[in-house]
Amino acid sequence: LSLNTTAYAQKTTDIAPISEKVLSSVLEKNRTYYTQGKVADYIPELGKMDATAIAFSVVTKDGKIYNTGDTGKKFTMQSISKIIALMIAVNEKGEAGVFDKMGYFGTDQPFNHFSNLETTGKPLNPMMNAGAIYTTSLISGDGEKPFLKILDMVRYITKNQALDYNKSVFESEKATGHRNRGMFYLMKNNGLISGNEEQLDNYFKQCSIELTAEDLAKIGYFFANQCVRFDGDSTYKNAELARLVQSQMLIAGMYEFSGEYARTVGLPSKSGVGGGITVSVPGKMGIGVFSPALDQHGNSSAGYHMILDLVKQYNLSLF
Ligand code: DON
Repeated sequence: LSLNTTAYAQKTTDIAPISEKVLSSVLEKNRTYYTQGKVADYIPELGKMDATAIAFSVVTKDGKIYNTGDTGKKFTMQSISKIIALMIAVNEKGEAGVFDKMGYFGTDQPFNHFSNLETTGKPLNPMMNAGAIYTTSLISGDGEKPFLKILDMVRYITKNQALDYNKSVFESEKATGHRNRGMFYLMKNNGLISGNEEQLDNYFKQCSIELTAEDLAKIGYFFANQCVRFDGDSTYKNAELARLVQSQMLIAGMYEFSGEYARTVGLPSKSGVGGGITVSVPGKMGIGVFSPALDQHGNSSAGYHMILDLVKQYNLSLF
């Protein structure tokens, strides 16, 4: 943990407004951090990603979009889809209906840990794989329907109807996701899940949704602003739901790194092993980063450093 407190902006008058130029200088300063990470290859198809690709996007309070780097580069959202699934499940079942068999706990364990499925039987939280698989299984509808609801919501939030999932990544994860399959069956054994493996496929498919850093910034903006879209559309406006989702992002969105991340960045964020991180600056902006080389916790290495830099320059930490 390196805390260079002198790098924090002291006076707001010192701060230039967000611009592509600002983002580009932050990106260039942190570009080489990818060499400290490694592209995920436990899902073989993910291992094909270009480690040097990098992108950085911000949607400011007024809904303006700023992009820099490989802005057109698509990647799979992976675990970032968990916050969308949580939103839909809570909208359908209510918070109590989702959390009566799942905790609000933080974790000192990696994202794919079985945690206390063997003890209390309850997943720790909806951000780690077990709880996320459970959460998706709660979304109503047969077959692919729950996944399609997640895809539609991502399309809505990003205002990007062309978004879809990457079938090769899906097939690759389905073929190799034995830990996830193990969790699925343990939860079925514990009576949490009643359906068949189609429900697990929905989780694999949601993880395979492809998008850009700009799309992630729009997702961050949405939860930062009471589930109001970047263009002001308030169809899903819900301050309580945004509070719930952001609180889970804060305590577990970066897995076992979440505590240190809260200390350094201090903002609700969600990472994915595709190399994306989405950040909500409550009441303000959304940030989206992409760089596929991951640190030992499964979080984008250069992505983390770009976020940290921007947060320091603009005093964005909640604390
Ligand atoms: O379940 C998995 O292993 C992946 N589809 C998602 C995991 C993930 O993104 C963890 N994030 N950092």
